[in-house]
Amino acid sequence: MADHDLVLVTGAGGMGRLVTERLRAQNVPVRVLIRREDDRAAEVRALGAEVVTGDLTRPETVAAALDGVRRTYFGLSVSPDHLLAATVMATVAKAHGELDMLVDMSQMTVSQMTATSTAESHQQRLHWLAEQVLDWSGLPVVHVRPTTFLDNPLFTALAARSIRENGTLALPFGTGRTSPVAADDVAQVVATILRNPGEHAGKVYELTGPRALDMTEVAQEFSKALGRTVTYLDVPLQWWRTEVLANAGLPQHTEQHIATMAQLHRANRYDRATIDVERITGKRPLTVEEFVAVRKDFYLG
Ligand SMILES: NC(=O)c1ccc[n+]([C@@H]2O[C@H](COP(=O)([O-])OP(=O)(O)OC[C@H]3O[C@@H](n4cnc5c(N)ncnc54)[C@H](OP(=O)(O)O)[C@@H]3O)[C@@H](O)[C@H]2O)c1
Repeated sequence: MADHDLVLVTGAGGMGRLVTERLRAQNVPVRVLIRREDDRAAEVRALGAEVVTGDLTRPETVAAALDGVRRTYFGLSVSPDHLLAATVMATVAKAHGELDMLVDMSQMTVSQMTATSTAESHQQRLHWLAEQVLDWSGLPVVHVRPTTFLDNPLFTALAARSIRENGTLALPFGTGRTSPVAADDVAQVVATILRNPGEHAGKVYELTGPRALDMTEVAQEFSKALGRTVTYLDVPLQWWRTEVLANAGLPQHTEQHIATMAQLHRANRYDRATIDVERITGKRPLTVEEFVAVRKDFYLG
């Protein structure tokens, strides 16, 4: 990639921040689209990124952000505006006419959906539809479909709480298997594609951790990482929704999404393992044990 090829990254938080870190570490010029000035904006500026204010649902701000840009990472929070934002990005980028890569942050569940399936969350349906819109646009797009992040509250904040309270991972996943992937590994995939789009355009990558585990095995990995016994407690889904999730103070759209993720875990829909992370980055994705071991203080408090 030539030094002057500018990459637009959406968001100074979450995945946007992680992708910016990786691109800036390799001196790739980055422009970050933010909605408001805050500490996260200051932090990406400190990494050497340019920062512009805008909103993915407002075409004129997206057009301004794309000025001079050849490659972009497109992703936003779990949001009822996801399809609108994707449609704005697709239409504005198409009119802009200069992109040679757009990396779309999607979700692995999309791989198992059809045009009419109904078991999924509103967020998952919006990802499915957004992929269609981006494909119809004819832009050079890669859909990155990670499974649940290890950084998801399911495996971080909620796990830490029940580990501290009673040494359990209390989740309603039944005997379902899961292969959570570290957001860092996903960011490495996104940055690798943006640095060198090569043959990636038109591809779909399904990103998982190294292997699918049931929750008893996940708890064993937590035990090894933390040096104390953690056991899996399979709690009833409905109890968990009303007593745990409903008290988390999440917007309704996000709560419905996480409740559906739990339900789909229970239905064994997250029992997937791919080699896409290693194939693209050349590095094996983190195991649960490795992820937890470097966050020991966080989990044990
Ligand atoms: N977490 C998981 O387990 C998981 C797994 C697979 C896929 N995903 C997907 O990953 C995405 C979430 O990624 P993330 O962790 O990077 O999210 P995040 O940290 O919650 O949010 C990323 C950024 O999106 C920005 N944003 C939201 N709405 C925007 C808008 N209208 N215009 C401009 N910026 C906007 C936010 O800005 P503000 O700070 O201003 O709100 C934030 O900086 C979702 O699409 C989710 O479905 C997540």
